[in-house]
Amino acid sequence: MVVLDVPRFLTVGGEEIVARCRALAGVSEERGRLTRRYATPAMTRANALVGSWMREAGMTARLDVAGNLVGRRPGTSVLAGTLLLGSHLDTVRDAGAFDGPLGVVVAIALVDRLRQEGLALPFALDVLGFADEEGLRFGTAYLGSRAVAGTFDPSLLEVVDDEGVSVRDALRAFGGDPAGVVAGAASRRGERLLGYVEVHMEQGPVLEERDAPLGVVSGIAGATRAEVRFAGLAGHAGTVPMAMRRDCAPAVAELVLACEALARETDGLLATVGKLEVKPGAPNVVPGHATAFLDVRHADDAVRAAAVATLHARAMEIAADRGLDVEWDVRLDNPAVAMDPELTARLARAAPGAPSLASGAGHDGVAISALCPIAMLFVRCRGGLSHHPGESVTAEDAQEALDVLHALVTDWAAEMKRDV
Ligand code: GLV
Ligand code: MN
Ligand code: MN
Repeated sequence: MVVLDVPRFLTVGGEEIVARCRALAGVSEERGRLTRRYATPAMTRANALVGSWMREAGMTARLDVAGNLVGRRPGTSVLAGTLLLGSHLDTVRDAGAFDGPLGVVVAIALVDRLRQEGLALPFALDVLGFADEEGLRFGTAYLGSRAVAGTFDPSLLEVVDDEGVSVRDALRAFGGDPAGVVAGAASRRGERLLGYVEVHMEQGPVLEERDAPLGVVSGIAGATRAEVRFAGLAGHAGTVPMAMRRDCAPAVAELVLACEALARETDGLLATVGKLEVKPGAPNVVPGHATAFLDVRHADDAVRAAAVATLHARAMEIAADRGLDVEWDVRLDNPAVAMDPELTARLARAAPGAPSLASGAGHDGVAISALCPIAMLFVRCRGGLSHHPGESVTAEDAQEALDVLHALVTDWAAEMKRDV
């Protein structure tokens, strides 16, 4: 490794990582709670703030055509390639401060620390702030990471949000370039990539129960998201006799209960209806339309596929019994993804004693696994709480995650030096 002659700055350690995540949590579309969807003005403000931290750490920062923030620290040898780090900067509705931003902020802290230590690495480090891991705005996740992986399906540009704005128009208004995405301008295919390593809060209780600050991820469960739309006939709540109604609210209610029952009786299956719409939406109107947004997950793809087929059949039955029309639209269908064994072993060597655990939550690595080897490091969170404003990660644990990333890249650099 080459030691550069650079001045020393204050360290971005665990305390600063937590403070930065909490500062970012103030960058929201909504007053009083954190909601940051793909290609919104709040994402522009978040990218500006995170981009300023990247520059302070000595990186260049730019937005790619899909709206991802890309920070770059060049290596000393073009032949050594690039290691991708990072996580996502979008959030769910009423989110916590750490799901996503933690991984971006830890990666920037790593670059900052290398700079302070005067350590140049043979390989480049790119820190990615992915634009759409949650899929909150368009119901289909990983828009940014799929563009980076070179697997962006052009038909995604036509998907619309609740206001009828398409991905294409939203991205254009955001300063991105939909045609460029389709042409592969955000894709990193063909580059020499060492892999993608993401730090993420655990979002579950396992590490806390095991009294372990960090865990090494073994794999990510598969997930299906479907939008189930019932259509009947709106009418007057005081005049349409019960026997003559084509009411959609009881239909979605039945479907929600069917999801819960199936998941309770199927080992390892998680089924959630996290969003319901009943229209036209007045207490004195029989609902003529209703939509249930389903999320079904399992570590075994065959079990998940069988569960989705069962729920699909149930939705058709419910509609037939009630004289309703029904449409079933799959918005996302991701298989379970294993971590890369070699990269994961390397990460595990940098995190001695960290237990191995599976991820029930989805991550951008699902998309990036089509591009290069992936590995993930989980950080303990309080009470296993996530997708909730009470998310909490300690400064000590964040510092440990930073130390592990540091060990990973410096060990790797030393190994490359030995090998030449
Ligand atoms: C992302 O948080 C997901 O698993 O839905
Ligand atoms: Mn996440
Ligand atoms: Mn999330």
